[in-house]
Amino acid sequence: MVNEEKNEMVVTPWEVKGKVDYERLIKEFGTQPLTDELLEKLTKYTGELHPQLRRKLFFSHRDLDTVLNLYDKGLKFVLYTGRGPSGPVHIGHLVPWIFTKHLQEKFKTRLYFQMTDDEKFVVEDELKLEETTKYAYENALDLIALGFEPEDTFIIFDVQDIHLLYDIALEVAKRITYSTAKATFGFQDSTNIGWIFWPAIQAVPCFIHAKLTGENVPALIPAAIDQDPYWRVTRDVAQKLGYYKPAQIHCRFLPGLGIGGKMSASEPETSIFTTDSPESVKRKIWNAFTGGKGTATEQRKTGAEPNICTIFQYYYYLFEESDKKLTEKERRCRNGEILCGECKMDLAERVNRFLAEHQKKREKARKIVEKFHIKH
Ligand code: TYM
Repeated sequence: MVNEEKNEMVVTPWEVKGKVDYERLIKEFGTQPLTDELLEKLTKYTGELHPQLRRKLFFSHRDLDTVLNLYDKGLKFVLYTGRGPSGPVHIGHLVPWIFTKHLQEKFKTRLYFQMTDDEKFVVEDELKLEETTKYAYENALDLIALGFEPEDTFIIFDVQDIHLLYDIALEVAKRITYSTAKATFGFQDSTNIGWIFWPAIQAVPCFIHAKLTGENVPALIPAAIDQDPYWRVTRDVAQKLGYYKPAQIHCRFLPGLGIGGKMSASEPETSIFTTDSPESVKRKIWNAFTGGKGTATEQRKTGAEPNICTIFQYYYYLFEESDKKLTEKERRCRNGEILCGECKMDLAERVNRFLAEHQKKREKARKIVEKFHIKH
């Protein structure tokens, strides 16, 4: 956890604030940078560098090299990722899921996906259990809409499926002291005890494959770096329980549409939800913070600053796959050849086109959710 007083940056599983310094997170969290050499090794299996790797959206890892070395020797791995269903899914959440799907396709591996309706209930004061459970189901539709393989995707709805998790959660919990949990997660005297036990449950899907199939293989977790504290405590207990340490590949945060900070559901006007109407998307994008100048005349003369512009980030993360077109857009912006209004309208159109398709697939997914629900 990064202390708020030292610097504006705060990155915890429950809060991300300020300008995120990713280099500093690698040092403070003790993770490894994703080197070109490792990316090359990954390309041996995937055949191409996924745009999110090419653009360095995934930037850090733990034990990805170990997992690939074991894979070389014939030991498979499983994928694991998840969602805390506290509301609708925003397009930032889709970033690690899109990459997870790429890995599932390329490595033909199982994915365990945890819907943590229990976590969101204990952590969020104002949410009722019926609400987080309802969102878990609604959020699963977003995951399915991305096209995951039903045979190889196992969604765990925590509250409903707790009997599958509880024995391993107890084994994990018994081996994490309160002092470790406090130091890792910043628990206070006022923290409710449901929350204090909870990290043991997020650890379980790292190990559940062995229980379900008898195969002891490592898990690889694609997620943004905010989830890393969970893996630190899980990695500490893994070998004591006879499992491989779970490996991680960490991505950056898609920023919100305001100044600084990640896209976060708690700030709905600067977040684009997958269920937003075309009008709200247009409105939110129209009000976004850009790197533009005070007047059109000034901008034409001196150019704008794509490096601080949220709109440019959206092209960079999700909405312009061609590197050539992206570079050209950046050049024209810097030279004052395009104005912010033009970029905003173009982006809103692209986002709405994507969402129209996504929303259709999301509705179709209602009929097939059970196919993805972990069998037990
Ligand atoms: P949650 O619901 O906060 O986030 C779901 C996933 O989205 C990532 N994420 C983002 N990625 C890019 N840009 C953003 N602005 C952004 N905001 C969030 C998160 O890192 C996460 O990968 N406790 C978890 C649920 C969970 C989980 C897991 C997540 C259970 N097991 C295993 C990842 C891996 C949670 O509340 O995620």
